[in-house]
Amino acid sequence: MKLPLSENNIDGKVDVGKMYRKALKAAKPDKTQKQVIELLGRERNVDTLRAVCELIPAKKFESYKPNALVERARWRVGRLDKACEGVFDAGRVNILEIGCGRGEMLSALMERYDARCVGLDPVESLFINNRKDAPELYDAMMIKGFAEEIPFCEANFDLVLGYNSMEHFTDPRQVVDESHRVLKPGGAMYFWFGPPFNGPYGPHLQNRLGLPYVHHLFAPEVVAEYLGVSGDPYKGKNGWSTQRFRQLFTQDPRVVCTYYREEYVWDHLWLVKALPDEFAELTPPELVIRAIEVTCVKDGLRAREQFVAKRRAMVGIDLSAGIVDTQDGRTTNAVLGNAANRFGIKLNNSNDPRKGDYTRYSLTIPTTPGEAKQLSLRVHNSYRNEKYPGRIAWTLKINSKDCHTEDISADGAANELAVAIDAGADLVELELRLDALRNCEPWSWGDASKVWIDQVKLTPVQA
Ligand SMILES: C[S@@+](CC[C@H](N)C(=O)[O-])C[C@H]1O[C@@H](n2cnc3c(N)ncnc32)[C@H](O)[C@@H]1O
Repeated sequence: MKLPLSENNIDGKVDVGKMYRKALKAAKPDKTQKQVIELLGRERNVDTLRAVCELIPAKKFESYKPNALVERARWRVGRLDKACEGVFDAGRVNILEIGCGRGEMLSALMERYDARCVGLDPVESLFINNRKDAPELYDAMMIKGFAEEIPFCEANFDLVLGYNSMEHFTDPRQVVDESHRVLKPGGAMYFWFGPPFNGPYGPHLQNRLGLPYVHHLFAPEVVAEYLGVSGDPYKGKNGWSTQRFRQLFTQDPRVVCTYYREEYVWDHLWLVKALPDEFAELTPPELVIRAIEVTCVKDGLRAREQFVAKRRAMVGIDLSAGIVDTQDGRTTNAVLGNAANRFGIKLNNSNDPRKGDYTRYSLTIPTTPGEAKQLSLRVHNSYRNEKYPGRIAWTLKINSKDCHTEDISADGAANELAVAIDAGADLVELELRLDALRNCEPWSWGDASKVWIDQVKLTPVQA
């Protein structure tokens, strides 16, 4: 069985859930893996972890030779044309690399483009080693500082980029804000990073600890004891989920996400298959994510026009392209099913919903202006219990207008809805949300806290 290792998930019709189910079905533990599964049935203490790690040894880490790093930087720069289309067309470009580390990227960029490059990283000592080890590199300016507080004024750069650093930044949202601030209008931010935290090697410990998903299987204290460290064994990783990153890049109204690609690794699903309950909270792509590559353009008219044209060319409506968010930013429990033709959401705290808790699903649907249309869809919450009104309600909004609100205590039948879309619209913004209206009884609200959307169609109507 062959599954793609990476997919462009922004304008393609990618159903990661389907690929995941296929991979899970085919997953089969070998002899050693069966022994690991057996060990995981014991008390999960440090002795168990040691025994498991003897069976699955850590990958030998070979530190990069400076030359290899220079070559890697050239290879990375070679890929930029595709992801940052148009950025280098306008002659000399100002580039900022955040989390630049040693700085080979800056040199490779200057080698290839007419570029003025600056690197930013809090660990100044890296810069010095770099210069000693590789004197042939172009001399770029590197300064000490944090990406959450970029020490430059507004509208300074044509490109802000970062490699393998987004998962380390303490506050990625603040980094995007700052990148946006220092970008010129129409400038691009580009990040390639991973693995995000929920993936098999999300804690970046594979050179010390071979067990994939160790962070989902053992308590952090046990991992810390095994590693011989005090405190958080995952220090330096921000713990962001893939869903949260997707949302960060594709939901920011100030930027247009023009390129978005996820890389997957399918090799470790034998563990997920063997211990399904332990991974029940994590939906794909969280469990197979290896890296994310993304470009966002600071809103300029040209970028927006290009983006809308591209989205318009899409056939059908892909519900999995929607974005989910919740009151606390955690979305792993909030997505029920994530397929192209059916999407379900749930309160992420459904055992104890508190007033103000919410899960929101939003989707932008491109349309052709000049043509009146009808948006038809089905929304379904299967719970019905008239004894419990006023706890949880769901609302559907189209282009910010409320179309339908229903209390979960009401009729559990599916709602077929049709909404007229004005001929002038070039996008339809669909929003479905679940809200806890009060602190609910602390029991499992199961179906009461779920709502599904499907059969979404946008059809032209005759005037
Ligand atoms: C895994 S290294 C990647 C280095 C380099 N970009 C590469 O691809 O080889 C992550 C880098 O991010 C830097 N970093 C961590 N937190 C940062 C922050 N808040 N702001 C800027 N850089 C940060 C680290 O010092 C480190 O150099």
